[in-house]
Amino acid sequence: MSFFFLIFYIQMVKVLLGISILLALASFSLGDIVPQIKKFGAKTIHISATMGGISHIAWTLEIGKVLAQRGHNVSFITTDPNVKFGVPYQPEVKTISMGPHVSTVEFRDMFDVEELFSKSVVAAYTKLIEDTYQRDYYAYFDLFESSKTDIVICDQLSLPCFDAARELNIPMIMHMTMSLSEDTKAPFITSFFIEGPPTSRNLSFTQRFYNRFVSLPGFLYRFSPVSKTIKKMRAKTGIEPFGPLDRHSGVIKMINGFWGMESPRPIGPFVEYVGPIISSTYSSLPENMKRFMDQHSNVVYIAFGQMYSPSGKEFEVLLTSLLEAYEDKILDGFIWSFSLKSRQQSDLPKQIQTRSGSIYIVKDLFSGNRDPNLRFEAWSPQFAILNHEHCKLFVSHGGASSIHESLFNGVPLLLHPFTSDQPANAYSMQEAGVGLSLDRKAHNLTDTIEKLNRILLDKEGKFKLNMESMQALVQLKSRKKYHAADMIEEVLHSVRDHNNIWYRREVVENMAMFKATNWDIDLVALAGLIGFIVIVCKTFIALLKLPLVQPRKLKSN
Ligand SMILES: *[C@@H]1O[C@H](CO)[C@@H](O)[C@H](O)[C@H]1NC(C)=O
Ligand SMILES: *[C@@H]1O[C@H](CO)[C@@H](O)[C@H](O)[C@H]1NC(C)=O
Ligand SMILES: *[C@@H]1O[C@H](CO)[C@@H](O)[C@H](O)[C@H]1NC(C)=O
Repeated sequence: MSFFFLIFYIQMVKVLLGISILLALASFSLGDIVPQIKKFGAKTIHISATMGGISHIAWTLEIGKVLAQRGHNVSFITTDPNVKFGVPYQPEVKTISMGPHVSTVEFRDMFDVEELFSKSVVAAYTKLIEDTYQRDYYAYFDLFESSKTDIVICDQLSLPCFDAARELNIPMIMHMTMSLSEDTKAPFITSFFIEGPPTSRNLSFTQRFYNRFVSLPGFLYRFSPVSKTIKKMRAKTGIEPFGPLDRHSGVIKMINGFWGMESPRPIGPFVEYVGPIISSTYSSLPENMKRFMDQHSNVVYIAFGQMYSPSGKEFEVLLTSLLEAYEDKILDGFIWSFSLKSRQQSDLPKQIQTRSGSIYIVKDLFSGNRDPNLRFEAWSPQFAILNHEHCKLFVSHGGASSIHESLFNGVPLLLHPFTSDQPANAYSMQEAGVGLSLDRKAHNLTDTIEKLNRILLDKEGKFKLNMESMQALVQLKSRKKYHAADMIEEVLHSVRDHNNIWYRREVVENMAMFKATNWDIDLVALAGLIGFIVIVCKTFIALLKLPLVQPRKLKSN
């Protein structure tokens, strides 16, 4: 016994000694170690977009600027008509033009507000690819090769950008304003090519069946000339087929969106939602507009983006509704951004009559002679207007950038979506409780007035409450441009074999389908279970038969 005590005693002394030595060492230590990230070298980064205007370009250049400030060599590659979009980002981001726009097709020809992917839209896509593919491909190839490009960030519409980078084994990132890629799809996500809500949650069985087995194949059939043209132009240039949008393409998809606007769902490791990106500066209000905003307390701002303009009928319904709300003192003024070109539209009404009997001559409203509280502007600083505390509602077409700017400033939305991602955006804003949506096909006065009133009066305070949390979400998420820059740097420095973004590659990429889904073992388990049930049943039946047979035997005996 005493022997064990001795050992225990010695152990205790050792432990105490150890502790006191550690304490002594700690008090003499030379401070803590701060982990340091080593210095990584500067790289050459190319960002490109040739289509889509400012909403495709500004946000990526915003990320480009962050990268340039971190010492990288960043350039923006585009065509002559888009050079102007690069100006605010110079000198940090250099702008390089590949030359003039070489097609008769303009970006706006790629949208038909009456029918998504109509014949004319398909024809525009086809012609555009035929006109621009080769010029762009060789321009990208020469630029990437001569400048020893380390990474390219191409717009979703710039197929030649991806093809040139792939030929040269350069890692690729696709920038997109909404997600169309396969690794962001879920069975309940409705295809972008089908009009309607972004998910099938509120669709009936028949609607879902129709979408999947009638609408989608129909779209693919109508769109097939485009795929054929792509194949033809690539064959002509000697390029292998490649789908940057594919799930296992090895291209990172960087999306200027966020959960809260896009439908939350599981996504793959090659997908990064980095939005909403808000520019670091915007034009401020000119003096007279600032005075207008200061002097009114309930201003509605109306703008439909650079590409869209309401039809004469739609214009009439909207304007009449706004005038009636103005007469009812629900708003005390509006600013309507309406281009001089749109004012030439032949189907615009000449005059408007409200329920009170007042007549408004449209020409006088345009010139500002009718009422100083009702302003039509050829151009207006959108962000600055939304940023003013007296702006109480934004009537918008629902383009992603417009929605981001409105939410950032906490301004509720009345959406009048035309095409593209706008109907889905409008639906999401309505679901999020920060706006309402108008239906162009059933557009009428009663509905529009009712919705204007509902948002502006906000009797239950719901829009205000919902907007508070949405605004916080958007403002905090807008810091994600730094995350986007981090992500790009991470690819730049950790890529293997030139363009292998190995650490994101899905494990299932190199797995047999049965193994990846576990269907093989599940099948064996199921077979085993069925076998077991069969045996149990057989035994049970056999047991049941036993007493039935025996009494008979007894009787006969
Ligand atoms: C920076 O990029 C430009 C344009 O791509 C290229 O011409 C130049 O050589 C690059 N500079 C350095 C130092 O890599
Ligand atoms: C869609 O379905 C959800 C869940 O059932 C429901 O909460 C929501 O109100 C529906 N939205 C519409 C527009 O019907
Ligand atoms: C007015 O618009 C609403 C919403 O789109 C629709 O439900 C209603 O049927 C329309 N009314 C008329 C008379 O067209």
